[in-house]
Amino acid sequence: MARIVVCGPEMAQFGAALARELDESLCQAMVERFPDGEMHVILPERVTDLDVTLVQSLLSPAGERLVELSLLADACRRARAARVTLFLPYLAYARQDRCTRRGEALGGEVVAGLVSLAGFDRIVAVDLHSDAALGWFRAPLQHLSVGPDLAEAVRSSLPASSVVVSPDLGGAKRAERVAKLLGKPLAIVHKTRGEREVIVHRVLGDVRGQAPLVVDDMISTGGTIAAAADALRQAGCVPPLTVLATHALLVGDAIDRLRAAQVACLVHSDSLPTRELPFPNVVVPLAPIVASALREEFPWNPK
Ligand code: R5P
Repeated sequence: MARIVVCGPEMAQFGAALARELDESLCQAMVERFPDGEMHVILPERVTDLDVTLVQSLLSPAGERLVELSLLADACRRARAARVTLFLPYLAYARQDRCTRRGEALGGEVVAGLVSLAGFDRIVAVDLHSDAALGWFRAPLQHLSVGPDLAEAVRSSLPASSVVVSPDLGGAKRAERVAKLLGKPLAIVHKTRGEREVIVHRVLGDVRGQAPLVVDDMISTGGTIAAAADALRQAGCVPPLTVLATHALLVGDAIDRLRAAQVACLVHSDSLPTRELPFPNVVVPLAPIVASALREEFPWNPK
């Protein structure tokens, strides 16, 4: 079956890169605005009887991107695409993965449910925040973990005496995978609450004299990395500090925080728009990784 990549204007660069990797044509949807701000989506290319890969990241503002995603999927369906796969580089709201107090919404599940309602034959997602997210979608899910790809990008530049660090207990499995791949020891920064709710960071594992490679799924405000960097220095870690995170949101003064934390190199993917940083960084493109996943016949897809 012939295939085509479909994307909205925000994902034009990414869509083009994926279409090149897959050697498929690209349909960049026109998204016009009515005077009241409503979106109006039109596909300028024919997708009838084609196997469509729709590319949409839930960038900020995520609500707008979610509506756009639903309109794009609907346009493909109404044009009678044979099959529609969603490639979702970044799922917003995924950190809302549990309810800790009465009256709280489970944001991650709600947003994944809304994505699913758009109607996909298959969803390909990248480094979802927690395992809870694996059960949220109502379509067959292919979950790509790109930590190993990011790790390979820095393997040759890591000092011999390095330790892989998870900045919290929740990310320990993710960091352990990278540690195994690189043949390095693992340490974990444990956040504990002291008296008067002060957060204390203790480092579990032997890090003295070692250069840290901190592994996380995302950097938002940079607060987690800054706190981990501080705890690691106090525990005797030495420079350089390398940080590896799939999703570089970098909101607010995150970049200043990372600079103040003396991050020597940040390795991240292009799941979100990339920008110039005032310190060395390596961007690992997702398109080749996703292209090879898309080429595999998906085992859970009945078609
Ligand atoms: C936490 O559970 C996540 O894995 C990240 O560590 C966190 O969301 C990063 O956010 P920030 O950069 O704002 O600390």
